[in-house]
Amino acid sequence: MSAPQAPVTVRVPAKVNVQLAVGAARPDGFHDLANVFLAVSLYDEVTATPADALTITCTGPDADQVPLDRSNLAARAAEILAARAGIEPAVHLHIAKNIPVAGGMAGGSADGAAALLACDTLWGLNTPRAELLDICAELGSDVPFSLVGGAALGTGRGELLTPVGAGTFHWVFAVADGGLSTPAVFREFDRLAEAAGTRIPEPEASPALLAALASGDADRLGATLANDLQAAALSLRPQLARTLAAGVEGGALAALVSGSGPTTAFLVADEEAAAKVAAALEASGTCRATRVASSPAPGATVLPS
Ligand code: C5P
Repeated sequence: MSAPQAPVTVRVPAKVNVQLAVGAARPDGFHDLANVFLAVSLYDEVTATPADALTITCTGPDADQVPLDRSNLAARAAEILAARAGIEPAVHLHIAKNIPVAGGMAGGSADGAAALLACDTLWGLNTPRAELLDICAELGSDVPFSLVGGAALGTGRGELLTPVGAGTFHWVFAVADGGLSTPAVFREFDRLAEAAGTRIPEPEASPALLAALASGDADRLGATLANDLQAAALSLRPQLARTLAAGVEGGALAALVSGSGPTTAFLVADEEAAAKVAAALEASGTCRATRVASSPAPGATVLPS
């Protein structure tokens, strides 16, 4: 085992769920999903540098909201990998954060996947891909997708991935004030379902959505976008309805809450439309900031040093 000592930087994308079908709560508290993940070109970068002990720093517009203790998935990734290899997690992890925090875009999951790959490379472990994916699943339901990127259907609690075809699409994201807790949104989903008294069907990927995704036709994809957590996110954060409306009025082909929110996602025809929709959203005063991105984006990648 040769351990290169130069810092290792990994770039990792955010995600949007173009379909998020949610089943009933399982005995373990998780929900079975049919989760069509799409990686988008908004990236965090995690740099691993040899150090005396495990430490984390973070920079970026929302850096003050990022935990720097062992609850950060990047720290947990380093600890789990080191324990498996029988070494100390003697590493400094620096997170250059650009993905909205607690926003439904898997930013925390992205940092977990990036730290895992960065430490594996720094420590010269060459852990097989399948084992890295197992560790990702241990870290969280969205973490395996952050490692692989592209476009994939996630089943189980979202961690069992099958790659799917995806053409190029353009997006605008509206960042909301404050985050939403994913468990709280799932609890609200359960509460709304119970109040409605309806049986929750088994989650299934939509063939029409998968065909639209593969076709690269934005109108077709816009007509099939679906997020079962949207009603729950809107119930907890009703003002998001105004953001969704502002983006559609501004020219978006379709709008939805990203994952468990509160970031909202707007599918647009092209880069020009993206700039217009972003300007309309900013002028509407219904969001804190906007980001423009395209998809699909590659998964966690070691950058050349
Ligand atoms: O897997 P992860 O740690 O990211 O999940 C965070 C929380 O989100 C879980 O504790 C659970 O409350 C909820 N969740 C769920 N069903 C899933 C994924 C997440 O209920 N498939």
